[in-house]
This record gives sequence, structure tokens and C-alpha cells, in this order.
Amino acid sequence: MAEKNALLTLPTGETITLPIYQGSTGPDVIDVSGLLKAGYFTYDPGFMSTAATESKITYIDGDQGILLHRGYSIEDLAEKSDYLETCYLLWYGQLPSKSEKEIFVQAITRHTMLHESLAHFFDGFHHNAHPMAMMCGAVGALSAFYHDVMDMRSEREREIAAHRLIAKLPTLAAMCFKHSIGQPFMYPRNDLSYSANFLYMMFGTPCEEYVVSPAVERAMDRIFLLHADHEQNASTSTVRLAGSTGANPFACVSAGIAALWGPAHGGANEAVLIMLEEIGSIENIPEFIEKAKDPNDPFKLMGFGHRVYKNFDPRAKVMKKSCDEVLAELNVTDPRLRIAMELERIALSDAYFIERRLFPNVDFYSGIILSAIRIPTSMFTVIFAVSRTVGWISHWQEMVSSPYKIGRPRQLYTGETERPYPD
Ligand code: SDX
Repeated sequence: MAEKNALLTLPTGETITLPIYQGSTGPDVIDVSGLLKAGYFTYDPGFMSTAATESKITYIDGDQGILLHRGYSIEDLAEKSDYLETCYLLWYGQLPSKSEKEIFVQAITRHTMLHESLAHFFDGFHHNAHPMAMMCGAVGALSAFYHDVMDMRSEREREIAAHRLIAKLPTLAAMCFKHSIGQPFMYPRNDLSYSANFLYMMFGTPCEEYVVSPAVERAMDRIFLLHADHEQNASTSTVRLAGSTGANPFACVSAGIAALWGPAHGGANEAVLIMLEEIGSIENIPEFIEKAKDPNDPFKLMGFGHRVYKNFDPRAKVMKKSCDEVLAELNVTDPRLRIAMELERIALSDAYFIERRLFPNVDFYSGIILSAIRIPTSMFTVIFAVSRTVGWISHWQEMVSSPYKIGRPRQLYTGETERPYPD
């Protein structure tokens, strides 16, 4: 792939030639794997300027605020596609024909049920366990039901594992919610769409018929679509690293869920709502803006900033438009939305945020929509995990379907050098 080279001159005067590789778009990369022979490691805490892999799935241009899934913009997909079609695109690399989509939707639909024994798994969780804690455990436990039938060298077995994960995560997520409120689990229904089925399993009860509102179904599907994948983010990189050891895909997705949970990552959507409630009124915003700017105060404006986007997160723009539509369609007024919009206005005109190119990210508005469709705050990151499972498993597939090496970073060691044990 190398057409250009970088030359590195070492303190010894030795010059090392490092190949430069060019992608189809985005920054070129310098292959530094040759440094080891010269006795050097690269040093890049947080991987700020490190490309850990080659990928064809998702492209992000942080300066331009561009997000493409297999070349299709997130704006086009949000307007013209749906979540399961986007899942097909991420996994297979192309949009499906009408018949391919029907077959895929049927395959997912017929994998939504769980082994009955898994329901008893929840008996071990305290009723007020955080749903993300339950998800980490329950998804990892899926390995126990499929481990002996998974030959991950088989393309077909990997495809079935992906179908099972995409299909079963909503069922498990709804079970986490039902367990937390002491209601009976609802079995999936094959006559409902993916998003309608999830809402049915969340809010339906055996006591009466539950009809999913089309407006809420559309909002849920758009939320799933907007969170489906995002290049090599922390949780996706976790799934790739776990997968590089040969761990099964269910265990890898469970590791991804654990990484997503942090408030700096997928936990931010829950943290945004908690922050807006803590702010409480528009009059209190300036005080919180000052806290966010204070280097000695650990408080950060949740839903603001991004490692890659130094412009608006395109998903936040789509989310904000959806927010307005959903609240209008459901005739819901949410005072937290007014606080969020005023917070955005003030922050975007403040030098601190402008200098650091801190803009609202995907999590800033998603919580408002999720609240409007009655998803409890503690379930926000679970929804993110349900949606991102297709991204995680698509990156896992991209890695394991070609030759790969176990991921094993090195370090700059600054600890004690060897010393004798005291007599
Ligand atoms: C997601 O990677 C992905 O793609 C993730 C994601 C996905 O789809 O997978 O997009 C989903 O995780 C979105 C991000 C959700 N997180 C939050 O909203 C939490 C709040 N944001 C921050 O924690 C932060 O912005 C990060 C973690 C998102 C990004 O952190 P970086 O890239 O390490 O940036 P940084 O911490 O080095 O910040 C640079 C400066 C610092 O100030 P200085 O030291 O230069 O003075 O900006 C400041 C930071 O203190 N800063 C903030 C801030 N975010 C950064 N100051 C106040 N409020 C904030 N939110």
C-alpha cells in the first residue's frame, strides 16, 4: 500500500524510513511498526493520533462534522432508511434489495426469543440493580447458551451469532427494565417491527393489549439508527481488543457494554438528563457553565465535546430535529429541553467552548427524546448498547474475517528499576 514514506532521524543520526499509507479519504497514516527494530515504541496516551486498524465500515470527519456508514451519510440514512436496514448495511457492506431486506428482517425476528433458563438469571439481581449492570452480566451469559455451537472460523456461524446478538439485545434490555419495576417479562412478538417490538416488551403487560404509537415507534427507530456505529470509539475498540484474543462474540459485546457504561462515553446520555435536572432552571445555567470552565472543578458539561468532532456532531443535529418533531407529535413539553437549548446557546457563544471546539454531541438531545417516549433515565445507556451492538459485531466480523494479531500495546516504564530484596 505504501506509495510515500516518512523519514525519521534518530539521536544516533540513523534515519528510519516509515511507510505512509493512504486511505480512500481522511488522513494518511504512518506505519510505525518498524520502530521496534530500532528499539523505540510510539507514545500516544488515549490514542489521540493512532489508527489502530484499517476499516471500511464508518468514516468520520471531525472538522467537517461528517459521518458516513459504508459511504452513506447519517443524514440520508436517518431520513430514508431504518435501523434494521442500517444493520444490514453495516454488516454486509451494501444496502439490501427489497427481498434481501425481507429475508434479513425475518432472520432477526426469529432470533428475538431467549433460552427460557436465561430468565432465571435475573432472579440473582437485586431489584434496584442498574440496568447496565444487568446487561453486562446477561449478555456475557449468552455465551453459556451458544458457546459449544460457535465455530468462529465459519462465516455462516459468525453471521448467525450477529443475527442472535442484534435480535436478542432488545429482549434482554426490556427484561432488565421489567426486572427493575417488578413486572413480568413480555415475550417478543413476531408481528411487530424491531422498534415496535422493543417498546411492546418494555411497556406492554399481560393484563391488557398494548398498542405502540407510530410516532413513538419512529422516534425509537431513529434513536437506534443514530447510535448504530461510530468508527473506533472506546467501546468498539474494546470489542476489537477482546475479539483479537479469540474470545467469543457474546463475551466481546459484553466487554463493549462495560466500556460504553462510562459517563465519558455512552453513559453521557443518562448524565445529561441528571445534569439538566441538577441545573433546574435557566437562571442557574451561568453557575454551571463556570463550573465546567473551572480547571479545578471535575464537573464537565455532559453531552458537550468529542474526541473526534471539533464541529457539530451530525447526529446531534438530526437528534435535535427529531426532538422537536417528537415533542410536537406527542404534545409533550419538557422544561429540560428549554434548559438544554439555552445551555447550548450560552456555551456556543462562550470563548472557553469556542476555543476548545466543544459542541453538543449525540448524547446532548437523545435523553430528551427518550424521556418523551417514557424510557427511564437509567435505561438510556442500555438503549445505546442495544443500538451499538450491530456496530460492535460488524467491527468484530471485519477483524476476525481476515488475518489478525492479538492486540497488545506496550508502555513507557517509569517505575523502579531492578533492586535486591532486603535481607
Ligand atoms: C460518546 O468516540 C466516540 O465516537 C464516542 C461516541 C460514539 O458514538 O461512540 O460519539 C459517543 O461517547 C460521545 C461523548 C459523550 N461524552 C460526554 O458528553 C461527556 C462530556 N465530554 C467530555 O468528557 C469530553 O469532551 C470527551 C470525553 C467526550 C472528549 O474528551 P477528550 O477528547 O479527551 O478531550 P479533552 O478532555 O482533552 O478536552 C479538551 C479540553 C480540556 O480542557 P483543557 O485541559 O484544554 O483546558 O476541553 C475541555 C477539557 O477540560 N472539555 C470540556 C468538556 N469536554 C472537554 N470542558 C467542559 N465540559 C466538557 N464537556
